[in-house]
Amino acid sequence: MDYGGRELITNLIKTRGVRLIVEIGAFVGGSVRQWLATSPDVIVLAIDPWPQIEGSNAFYDTHPVGRLHAAQLREPDGLYLAFLATLWQDRKRVIPVRGTGEHMLPVLHAIGLQPDLIFIDADKTASELSICDDLFPEAIVCGDDWLWCDGKRFPSQRPVWESARRRKRILKCVSNTWLIDDQPWTLTERRLWLSGLPTAMRRRFTAWQRGRRGLDSAGTPSRS
Ligand SMILES: C[S@@+](CC[C@H](N)C(=O)[O-])C[C@H]1O[C@@H](n2cnc3c(N)ncnc32)[C@H](O)[C@@H]1O
Repeated sequence: MDYGGRELITNLIKTRGVRLIVEIGAFVGGSVRQWLATSPDVIVLAIDPWPQIEGSNAFYDTHPVGRLHAAQLREPDGLYLAFLATLWQDRKRVIPVRGTGEHMLPVLHAIGLQPDLIFIDADKTASELSICDDLFPEAIVCGDDWLWCDGKRFPSQRPVWESARRRKRILKCVSNTWLIDDQPWTLTERRLWLSGLPTAMRRRFTAWQRGRRGLDSAGTPSRS
């Protein structure tokens, strides 16, 4: 489920000594595995409600991995069990926290957790950002879905810009990935930005085409 630009984050994990990552929206653990593979020192606390998905669903119906495992994922608690199974080998470095970001971030703050990095990949609106700004002002925040379009707008972009302004930090976007950072662009990051440019332009063009047909980036009828 990497739609481009994740090297921006793996590069930062390697170069800045990131150890504790909070991920909001972990699904079956693809991105968690990416962070764990980047450094042996990384621990990921993964927040997700891992809901029971009933009826038709874009991932189960159209995604190659979803289709392959649809029957298993539709079992009771299938999504949560798939996450645990995927990460089983790294279970000492993964803490699953079942719930929404909105509800669980204040709990993590209350117990004194201080993440180095928070990755947001939940409902495509980056709505957890203002909570992160209030509770974890020191953490680096980043996420997915920069170029996810609901048919009319890119819903994560405004909250991300606002958070960067509030934090007085620099916004870096590579393809579908965004990062609010306290350090200026490095040469490596500029190179990543440049190499992600064709994909980013293609995604914008596809979003525009689909938007004209009343569809969101996933090709489903727009609700906005
Ligand atoms: C696109 S998937 C995440 C993909 C994953 N990060 C990866 O790259 O492999 C979105 C996930 O966000 C979860 N989610 C939706 N709303 C959420 C919320 N408010 N808080 C936490 N997780 C949420 C969904 O259950 C789903 O598993």
